[in-house]
Amino acid sequence: MHLDRYAVIGNPIAHSKSPRIHALYAAQTAQALSYEALLGPIGGFADCVDAFRAAGGRGMNVTVPFKLDAYAYATRLTARAEAAGAVNTLAFTGDEVLGDNTDGAGILQDITVNLGCPVASKRVLLLGAGGAARGTVLPLLDARPASVFIANRTAAKAADLRALAERFGQPGSNITLQAGGLAELAGQQFDVVINATSASLSDAAPDLPAGLYAPGALAYDMMYGKGDTPFMQAARAQGAARLSDGLGMLVEQAAESFALWRGVRPDTAPVLAELRAALQG
Ligand code: ATR
Repeated sequence: MHLDRYAVIGNPIAHSKSPRIHALYAAQTAQALSYEALLGPIGGFADCVDAFRAAGGRGMNVTVPFKLDAYAYATRLTARAEAAGAVNTLAFTGDEVLGDNTDGAGILQDITVNLGCPVASKRVLLLGAGGAARGTVLPLLDARPASVFIANRTAAKAADLRALAERFGQPGSNITLQAGGLAELAGQQFDVVINATSASLSDAAPDLPAGLYAPGALAYDMMYGKGDTPFMQAARAQGAARLSDGLGMLVEQAAESFALWRGVRPDTAPVLAELRAALQG
């Protein structure tokens, strides 16, 4: 039987959960496809993707450190990829290479549907101003929060991201957009706090003033691991009512990519449950 080929490319790639996730989605939706992990050579992204396409590849997920290379490789970009300045999903049709970014849609789906925490009319704090934060801005604004405060250790980068949000956000929207350094958060309260910094990678959490969490607030870390991340531990200590890591975001961004490629949306709940059990086992 002919199988349509897909892959995730990154470096390193050995521990990627994407092949497992997409195999589960393919089985669940009865789609005849294969999905492999490709170790992309640093500096050799385009050659590697060229070879995959020449061998019949239909699409790819792209992870660290190639999301900017994928952005440059695409011949057409979705609006959310354009706003993110980065691509995590490629779809190949003839000579056309569509570049999309499903990360932001993934986190919003996880927060609003899986966690049942609506963002509309809420006060949202987005921590960080790097690639992960940038990928979240447009889908976040589309969810119509009352306000978004972009806070970053380096305040100037937060201001740059706010300018970008203003450029790409819906004209005429009355969402309040603020930006600043972490200390400028003192005295403010938020309903949803999203950690899009990479602090957890160095086993740290952003240095936040006390009292940020409104009653019932959700603290969401894009990172995940076996137990609570440093950000989740700090948020618990500061009184956040609800905590989540980013495993659901991973599963949801994959579902969004799968839907783009195959035109069918998988049920993410059983896949998230399996990954959660494997992570804790
Ligand atoms: P990514 O693509 O994962 O967002 P990045 O573009 O390197 O990675 O951005 C990392 C983000 O995490 C930045 O916002 C960074 O803050 P600075 O702009 O001040 O460097 C933030 N970050 C990393 N470590 C941090 C820490 N220990 N505390 C607070 N913020 C941190």
